[in-house]
Amino acid sequence: MSWSVKNFYDGQNVLITGGTGYLGKLLTAKLLATTNVKMIYLIVRLKEGADAQQRTNELFDKVIFNKIDKNVFMDKVQSVEGDLMKPGLGMSHANKAFLRENINIIFHCAANMNMSAKLRTAVMTNVNGTTEILDIMKGAKVLKAFVAVSTAYSFCIHKIIEEKFYDSNMNGKLLLTMVRNMKPSLFDELSPQIMGNWPNSYVYTKAVAENVLQSEGEGIPLALFRPTIITSTVSEPAPGWFGNLYGPMELNFWCGSSVLTVFNGIPNNHIDTVPGDYVANAVICVACDVGKKWNENTKDFKIPVYNFGSYKSPLFVKLHDYLNLPVTCEYPPFERKLSTKPFLVIISNKFVFRIFNFLLHTFRGYLMDKFSIVTKKKTRMSKLYSRIFKLNSVLFYFTTCEWIVKNDNTKAVWNSMSREDQSIFPFDTNSVNTEEYYKNQMIGLKKYALHEDVKDLPKYKVGKSRINVSLILLMFIFFVVFLVIQNASKSE
Ligand SMILES: NC(=O)c1ccc[n+]([C@@H]2O[C@H](COP(=O)([O-])OP(=O)(O)OC[C@H]3O[C@@H](n4cnc5c(N)ncnc54)[C@H](OP(=O)(O)O)[C@@H]3O)[C@@H](O)[C@H]2O)c1
Repeated sequence: MSWSVKNFYDGQNVLITGGTGYLGKLLTAKLLATTNVKMIYLIVRLKEGADAQQRTNELFDKVIFNKIDKNVFMDKVQSVEGDLMKPGLGMSHANKAFLRENINIIFHCAANMNMSAKLRTAVMTNVNGTTEILDIMKGAKVLKAFVAVSTAYSFCIHKIIEEKFYDSNMNGKLLLTMVRNMKPSLFDELSPQIMGNWPNSYVYTKAVAENVLQSEGEGIPLALFRPTIITSTVSEPAPGWFGNLYGPMELNFWCGSSVLTVFNGIPNNHIDTVPGDYVANAVICVACDVGKKWNENTKDFKIPVYNFGSYKSPLFVKLHDYLNLPVTCEYPPFERKLSTKPFLVIISNKFVFRIFNFLLHTFRGYLMDKFSIVTKKKTRMSKLYSRIFKLNSVLFYFTTCEWIVKNDNTKAVWNSMSREDQSIFPFDTNSVNTEEYYKNQMIGLKKYALHEDVKDLPKYKVGKSRINVSLILLMFIFFVVFLVIQNASKSE
């Protein structure tokens, strides 16, 4: 039997959780475009008055499906209503039985990634969701591969992340019982103690969910896949496309808008990011690899772990270089919105950062809002700066540490692939032309976040002589305040 990745999907029924998210959309589009899957079932929850099928149909209008024939999408993509937070995912018995009998390949991508989410919310999504989907698929008839997507930072309490399972401090079932039976206020109070050394509810619940896979995954062709930080695409559906604006790309966005000018982190630490389309390709190939392993040795099957990051590749760059992309890029992303040239100061000391943050963000936001009141415009800068401050605080743990994410298993999958598969499903981070990639990421922010025209890009090239008006204004104000204070203290 040939283990070509493309052939692996021939006539298969695929189930995706999180199909409305960034990775889920990339996976659906890639499978439709390059393989001959029979059907793709998306587990989608009811949201904002729209039911699962409506939400699935609406997906087709997104840029990601531009190159897919509408009939192919409508014929091959179907929704199954389900919510990770509900017992049995809130699914009917008939739907569960259908999945158990018909699904060949599963990608479990759905998650609550909000690092500030209450622990009980994150537990009910990330731990409950994983427990329930495993439970539904127990005894599945034709299942060949089940890839559970976690994060490379689930065990960020270790600085070297190997491709293996680690022990969290908690049993998943016990944690779920605690959430279900304890008074919410008491559980909230105990949350920091429960999480121990983990910095937030997202990574903590991902760690516990990994242990659920390990303990409950017997008899299932499971694989654990851990990407680092997923950023914009290299080429598919278009260069620089992204699903959600969060993490480092959100910081790029605010820096490119000249809003973010000071940041708390260690500038020389490395940041490990991977392009979204490469992550989707890697997951698709990992499923084939686990299918092969399961087929070769079902009896002694051990759940393989695949990390996917950019360590030792050109994408493994310093935080300073990454966050300054909008400053150094030839075409700053939001030129027409800018009154000033973007700049960014990265400060490692928390105390010094707070002073600069006050001067360059809080005070600036206050002045800008006062100006807006005078000119009868909407005031929003103080609120925005307080949001950015919270974002920086949440990310502080990650911007002041560095990790080595080992990825030999994922590299082995790449090396085992035929040339044809490699060209259809590229995910070798060494092959990325970083200059081009980052330029496209900046243009992508302009195009997809602000919906600006990018046809006349050279027109918006940053002029070398441009000065930062607001910075000079601020410096002038500080100087005047300084003189007033000095004079006042002399006259006392
Ligand atoms: N993005 C990254 O940088 C990154 C890095 C490492 C690992 N990962 C992992 O990769 C996976 C996919 O991430 P992503 O970037 O695609 O995330 P995303 O864009 O935030 O999408 C999350 C998906 O999960 C679904 N979901 C959340 N709560 C749900 C619930 N209660 N019931 C049903 N569905 C629910 C969302 O559905 P709705 O549309 O209904 O909200 C959405 O489809 C996650 O497991 C994440 O932990 C992501």
